[in-house]
Amino acid sequence: MSVFGHRLSAMRQWPDDRVAFGGDYNPEQWPREVWADDVRLMGEAGVSFVTLGVFSWSWLEPTKGEYEFGWLDDVMDLMHRHGIAVDLATATATPPPWLSAAYPEILPVDREGRTLWPGSRQAWCPSSPLYRDFALALTDRMATRYHDHPALAMWHVSNEYACHNLPCYCDTCAAAFRRWLERRYGDLDTLNEAWGTAFWSQRYTAWDDVLPPRLTTTFGNPTHVLDYSRFGSDTLLDFFLAEKEVIRRHSAAVPVTTNFMTMSQFRLLDYHDWAPHQDVVSTDHYVVDALEHPRAELSFHGDLTRGLAGGAPWMLMEHSTSAVNWQPVNPAKRPGDTLLDSLTHVARGADTLGFFQWRQSRSGSEKFHSALVPHAGEDSDRFREVCALGAVAGRLGELVGSRVEADVALLWDHEAQWAVAGPCMPSSALDYPTAAHTVHRLLRDRGVTCDVVHPDADLGGYRVVVVPTLYLVSDAAAAAVAAAAEAGAQVLVTYFSGISDPDDHVRLGGYPGAFRDLLGVRVEEFFPLRVGEQVALDDGGGGGGPGGSGGHGTVWSEDARTHGADVVHAYADGPLAGRPAVTRRTVGDGGAAWYLGTLPDDATLGRLLERVLGDAGVRPAAEVPAGVEVVRRRSAEGAWLFVLNHTDDDATLAVAGHDLVAGTDVGPTTTVAARTAAVIREA
Ligand code: GLA
Ligand code: ZN
Repeated sequence: MSVFGHRLSAMRQWPDDRVAFGGDYNPEQWPREVWADDVRLMGEAGVSFVTLGVFSWSWLEPTKGEYEFGWLDDVMDLMHRHGIAVDLATATATPPPWLSAAYPEILPVDREGRTLWPGSRQAWCPSSPLYRDFALALTDRMATRYHDHPALAMWHVSNEYACHNLPCYCDTCAAAFRRWLERRYGDLDTLNEAWGTAFWSQRYTAWDDVLPPRLTTTFGNPTHVLDYSRFGSDTLLDFFLAEKEVIRRHSAAVPVTTNFMTMSQFRLLDYHDWAPHQDVVSTDHYVVDALEHPRAELSFHGDLTRGLAGGAPWMLMEHSTSAVNWQPVNPAKRPGDTLLDSLTHVARGADTLGFFQWRQSRSGSEKFHSALVPHAGEDSDRFREVCALGAVAGRLGELVGSRVEADVALLWDHEAQWAVAGPCMPSSALDYPTAAHTVHRLLRDRGVTCDVVHPDADLGGYRVVVVPTLYLVSDAAAAAVAAAAEAGAQVLVTYFSGISDPDDHVRLGGYPGAFRDLLGVRVEEFFPLRVGEQVALDDGGGGGGPGGSGGHGTVWSEDARTHGADVVHAYADGPLAGRPAVTRRTVGDGGAAWYLGTLPDDATLGRLLERVLGDAGVRPAAEVPAGVEVVRRRSAEGAWLFVLNHTDDDATLAVAGHDLVAGTDVGPTTTVAARTAAVIREA
C-alpha cells in the first residue's frame, strides 16, 4: 500500500520501494540530444522521480491562449519508458513575459511603493484575481492533459509560495486586506480594540481608511503588522486551494503537494495552517553556511517538517549536492557531506530525497548552483558521489513509512515568531528561533530527538515539553502546557514566553502572564542584555562569575521573584545579583515546570537539560561519542538507528544488526568512519 493511500492499479505510484531519489528536471533548458543522455545518467544514479515544469509556463503557453504541450508530452513519455515517476508542477510559479506586459497590474509592490518588475521570477501579486484566473486556466489545461498519464505520480502546485512576492503592498492587496479584516473582526469597533488604536490616534471610522502597513514615519502598529502577515499567509493558502480544486476535478487519485520552505530563515507563511491541506507535506532545505551551527539547523528543520506532517514521513523536495549560489560566499560541500546531509533528512522522517536540480544550467541566474550532474559532467567526483547516494537510497526502501521516535516536544508557532519580529520590542537582539534552536541543538548533542510541534498539538505522551520564547500564546495553549506538567511531564519554559495574547495585548499582573502560575515565577521588569553582554550565574555551589561553575547568561535577564518555585541558578552579578535566573517548580505527580529567565551558556544549559532528561527518564537513542548524531526510526517491521558521524574521527558504538549504507552486518559493536553515516536495522 502506498504511504499516501492512493493505490490505483492503473496509475503510477510514488516510488516507495526505496527512498525516492531525484529532483527538479528542466529539459526545456537543453537541446533534445541531451535528453537521451539525461535518462542514461538518471539510470546510473538511481533516479526514481523528477519534478517537471516548475518554471515552464512560457514554454507551455508562449503567447496568450496558444499552447505547446508537445515537448512536455515527449518528456513525460520518456520518463514513463524509463520507469521514472513524475511530480508534475502546475507551472504557475512564474508568469510568462506576455502576461505581465499585457497586465502590469499583476505585478507586486514593495513596502516603499516600488513595483517589482518582471525579469526574475514570481513577479505576481498574491491577491491579483487576474493572475489567479490565468494560473487556474493553465492548471486546468495541465490537469486535463496529464491526469491519466502513466508517468504522473504527484502534482506539485506552484513553487515555494511567498518566496519573493510576499508581502505585497499594492492597492489590490489593500482591498483584499480590508475584506479579510471584515471577516476576522466583523466591525470596526472590534478591529479598533484588537489593534489598540487608542494609541497614537489610530482609531478607524471607515473600512476604506485601513491600508496595508506601508512605509511609515516610525514604528507601525504591531497588531496591524501581525494581521498583515496572517492575511498574506491566508491569501496564498487560498490560492493553493483553488489550484488544488482544479486539479481534483480532473485527477482525484493523484496526491497533491506544494513545496514548503521550512528553513528557519524563511518566516512568511504559517505552515501549520497549510499542512493539513497537503496530501503529503513536502519542503525544501539548503544548508546556510553563515549560521553558527548549520547542521543543527538542518536537523531542527527536519523535526519541524515532521511536526507539520503530524509525525508522518515527509518529502524533501529540494536540497543541494553542494554549493548554492545565493549566499554571499557559497562554499562547496566537503566530501561526505552530501551523504550526511541527505541521511540526516531521512533520519528525521524524509522518505524522499529531491534536489535542485538534475543538470546544472549553462545560463541563467542559477548557473553556479550545484546539481546532480555538474558542469564538469559525469566524469566528476560529485556525480560519482550522487550515484553512490542513489544506491544508498535504493537500499533504504525497507524503512519507508516508518516513524521517528521522540520523547520530547518542542513548541514552535509561526504567529509567535511574527509577533516577536514585530516593531519596537524590548530587544532587537531577541530572535524567536534562538532559544528553540539552542535547546534543540543541545538535546541533539545528547542523542535526544524532539518533535517540533504547534502549541495546539496533543502533548500527551511526551515526557518533556520545551516552550521556547512563546511570546504570543492563547489561553488554551497555555492551559495545555500546564496540563502536560500536571500529567507528569517536565516542562521547560524559556524567557519572553506567555507575554501576550493572540491580539498581541500584554497579559497584565507580571510576566510571564500565561505561565506565571505554572512556573511559580512573577517578573516585574525585563533587563535585556546588550549584544555580547554576559551576566554571571550562581548555582549555589560556590561557582558563578563569567567562566565560573555557575556559568553565565546572555541575550536576556529579568527581575523575577519566585512563588513556590525553587531557585536553580541566581544572577551572580549585575543589577539583578541575587535574583532568580533559572527556577524549578514541582507540579502534580512527578511533573515539573522549569523556567529559564536568561539563555545560559551551552555547558550550563547542557547540564540543566541532563537533569531535566534524567528526571523525565528520557534516554539517548544510543551512546555515542560527542559530535555523532543518532536518531531512531521505527515501524511494526523493525527499528533503524541512524548514526551520523559529523566528526573527523571514526566513532565506535555498541549496536548489532545490518548497516544499510555499507550493506554489511554489524555487531556487537560497529565503527562508523569519520564524516560518514550508517543506518542500522537493529537486530
Ligand atoms: C529554491 C527554488 C529552486 C531554486 C533553489 C536554489 O528552492 O525552488 O527553484 O531556485 O531554491 O537553491
Ligand atoms: Zn498586491
